[in-house]
Amino acid sequence: MNKKLNIAIIGQKFMGRAHSNGWKQAQNFFSLNAEPVLKVACGRNETELKKFADRWGWSEISSDWKSVIERDDIDIVDIATPTHLHHEMVIHAAKHGKHIFCEKPFALNLAEAESMLEAVNSSNTVNYLNHNYRRCPAIVLAKKMISEGKLGTIYHLRSTYQQDWLADPNAPMGWQLDSKLSGGGPHIDLGSHCIDLAHLLIGEISSIGCLQAHFVNERKTNDNRTQKVDVDDASIMSVEFTNGAVGSFECTRYASGRKNRNQFEINGSEGSLVFDLEKMNELDYFSNNDNSSEQGFRKIIVTDPSHQYASNWWPPGHIIGYEHTFVHAVADFINAVVGNQTIHPNFQDGVNCMRVLDAANLSAQSGQRVNI
Ligand SMILES: NC(=O)c1ccc[n+]([C@@H]2O[C@H](COP(=O)([O-])OP(=O)(O)OC[C@H]3O[C@@H](n4cnc5c(N)ncnc54)[C@H](O)[C@@H]3O)[C@@H](O)[C@H]2O)c1
Repeated sequence: MNKKLNIAIIGQKFMGRAHSNGWKQAQNFFSLNAEPVLKVACGRNETELKKFADRWGWSEISSDWKSVIERDDIDIVDIATPTHLHHEMVIHAAKHGKHIFCEKPFALNLAEAESMLEAVNSSNTVNYLNHNYRRCPAIVLAKKMISEGKLGTIYHLRSTYQQDWLADPNAPMGWQLDSKLSGGGPHIDLGSHCIDLAHLLIGEISSIGCLQAHFVNERKTNDNRTQKVDVDDASIMSVEFTNGAVGSFECTRYASGRKNRNQFEINGSEGSLVFDLEKMNELDYFSNNDNSSEQGFRKIIVTDPSHQYASNWWPPGHIIGYEHTFVHAVADFINAVVGNQTIHPNFQDGVNCMRVLDAANLSAQSGQRVNI
């Protein structure tokens, strides 16, 4: 492998670590058509940045992401910062002809998302939006089974994404609770993942109704100031799909005991599927065509060589986890860049997702259903 691709990452915390691990691990487990080179890590706190770079193997650090993006020796810009920065960073990276690997949610709103898509459409580069759950082997299998007709006509998608880190009213304020920085609460944070999976597995959404709740209206910052919380605390959406199926989505960060439960059930005329991220190596399948005396949900462990990505890891039954979805994304992204191919989800998928989430916000404000 002679070709090398130099990466600049912006953001050094949760996603900074998850992405760095992805860039480092991908070539150990997958056949890549180029070597990802961890070139520059960008952030604001240089002391912390230095520690981060030393730990993860980034060669340089910088607190000036703009000038790093402008460098001729940077091929890929990896955006792992809070959501309000995605727009400016994407526009700058597109202007300078970089391939872009961007965290979700794509943007603060649909208008921003559309201008980001327009910016990359006029550059001959690859763009990827990191709805990483598409790259769980169980999700790939669910998509395959639905496409093959194993579920028949799809009737229902019942999706919930529950966390509990805000159930404690004394939990501190953070950027995620300030709409100017995050674009919203669990509606956009968790709902963007749910809608992305719904688009992948079921199809386009034609109308939406949404109810949003606010439970705790102010919180203390780390320096003990009181700050207003202006994002939704829970979002419940009901949708119609263009293919006639109906769906519901419940997103919250107030579900005590539920840590990162991204779960859905799909029911069709021939059977059902159930996925739960906290048991991500499993996909539950019920077939109406099984002999009635033996019918029941069966658990498929998605670690066989026949399951996407699985043969790159361990022998069957030796399970994988959350971080592997980032390794899968990096491997697919690097090969898409080298082959100059489209990868999904991309910025067009991001616009499609933001269109649904914005329409849902409108519905929550007006109390009316909204056509999409
Ligand atoms: N795909 C997933 O599973 C997943 C999970 C969590 C978060 N996210 C998304 O990833 C993004 C980042 O979230 P996070 O949890 O890593 O946040 P975080 O608060 O843990 O980290 C944000 C990083 O951005 C840096 N940053 C902030 N402002 C900056 C600036 N002006 N210039 C340079 N660096 C700056 C911070 O220093 C920090 O290193 C968000 O869009 C979030 O929604 C995705």
